[in-house]
Order: sequence, then C-alpha cells, then structure tokens
Amino acid sequence: MARERTTTLSEDYINRLFAKESEAHIKINKALKSDEKYGINVGAYEGKILQFLAQLMQARCIVEIGTLYGYSTLWMAQALPADGRLIAIEKSKAHFEQAKKLLEATEHKNKIELHCGEALEVLKGLKVTPDMVFIDADKANYKNYLDWAIEAVRPGGLIIGDNTFLFGHMIGEDRGERGSSKAIEAMSAFNESIAASDRLVSVMLPTYEGMTLAMKK
Ligand code: SAH
Ligand code: DHB
Ligand code: MG
Repeated sequence: MARERTTTLSEDYINRLFAKESEAHIKINKALKSDEKYGINVGAYEGKILQFLAQLMQARCIVEIGTLYGYSTLWMAQALPADGRLIAIEKSKAHFEQAKKLLEATEHKNKIELHCGEALEVLKGLKVTPDMVFIDADKANYKNYLDWAIEAVRPGGLIIGDNTFLFGHMIGEDRGERGSSKAIEAMSAFNESIAASDRLVSVMLPTYEGMTLAMKK
C-alpha cells in the first residue's frame, strides 16, 4: 500500500530549508510507516505549500477531502487562526480513528472537525463557504468534488487538487502504477475543466504528483 519513492535532490533541498516538520508531523509519519501507509500522504514541502497558501488566503475555513492520518491536515491547521475551522473528511473508519487520535494530541485540535464518511455525502450536508478546499481522496470522484467546490468556495477562494498527474497517467509517464479508466477520465475532466473555466484562474504546480490550483473569480 505504501507509495515510497526516493525524493529528488531539489525536493530534499526544499524539504530541508523550507519544510521543517513539527514533532506532531513526525509522530504522524511514524504511524503511517508502521501501518505501511507512508507515501500516500503529501510530502513535507507539499504540506508546506498548502500551509503557505492557507496563510496567503488568510483562510479561516478550509475543507479537506481525504485525510488519511491527518498529515496534510496538520500543515493547513497550523496556518489557521485560533478560531479557524478545518473540516476534514475521511471515509475509512481505521484512518479516521488514527487521524482523530493523532490530531487530538496537537495544539490545533480545536480547529479541526473530523468527519467519518463518504465525502460526497458529507459535503452535501455542509453549510459552509470555505476559503480553501483541498481535494485528495479517491481520484475517480475528483470532478464531482470540483463541482461541489466551485459552488461552495467564496469568490477569491482557492481549490487545490493533489495527484493531478494521476501517478503519471496524465503525462504519459509509466510509473508502474495502475490507473482505473474511471480515475483517468475523472482526472482528465478535472484538469481540463479547470483549465477551460472562465470562472477560475488556474495553474498547475509540477510537484512529482502534480498539484492543480484554481482560484474562483
Ligand atoms: N490528505 C492526506 C492523504 C489522503 S490519502 C495527506 O496528504 O496526509 C486519501 C484518503 O482518502 C484515504 O485515507 C482514503 O481512505 C480516503 N478516501 C478515499 N475515498 C474516499 C471517499 N469517497 N470519501 C472520503 N474519503 C475517501
Ligand atoms: C495515493 C493517494 C494519494 O493522495 C497520494 O498522494 C499518493 C497515493 C494512493 O491512493 O495510493
Ligand atoms: Mg495525495
């Protein structure tokens, strides 16, 4: 299950200089490693990019779709003010329980609201206007998450998708990863509709996994 790979020299440099992990991040990594899930989470510098963007947005409300053990959650929570709110959604009960335990041990616990459930169902019930939405759950639903996020975020709000190269499939690079045709279709629709939308200003960051950024006009 773990998706470990050796990081590039430039990633190592950025991680070392700009993305120092907290003790809590290190604890989450340990838990991920011992459960063979390390590498499914974002890397340190990607977490720092999320944090930087949340700060730049002066975000007070963030929605995260796909939490795993809360590694990316913690990076973003660190950027929120004390009365900020991070609504984090995780379908797997086992992942949810781990995230709950690990995040409750941090000083940011009061900002984080964890929901266990199918993301599309949980999103339907949310009455929020987020400043930022981070999409990182099942890739086959990315276009559906985008459709929700475009309506939900405030004008000027930011929508971010992780893994938007879909493990190489979007760029014709064989990384030895299988990709369901449903996921390939959904990710193509996600990136292409963002790029073509006149409601959004958008770009992609060429992280190894690909990170698509879209701001609602
Ligand atoms: N954002 C995390 C990594 C998330 S991995 C980090 O970077 O630290 C993707 C997670 O999405 C997994 O934990 C998986 O259980 C969850 N997931 C998959 N399908 C989902 C769905 N339909 N609704 C909610 N969560 C889902
Ligand atoms: C997987 C999911 C992710 O969000 C990621 O960044 C890497 C791997 C996965 O499902 O394997
Ligand atoms: Mg991801």
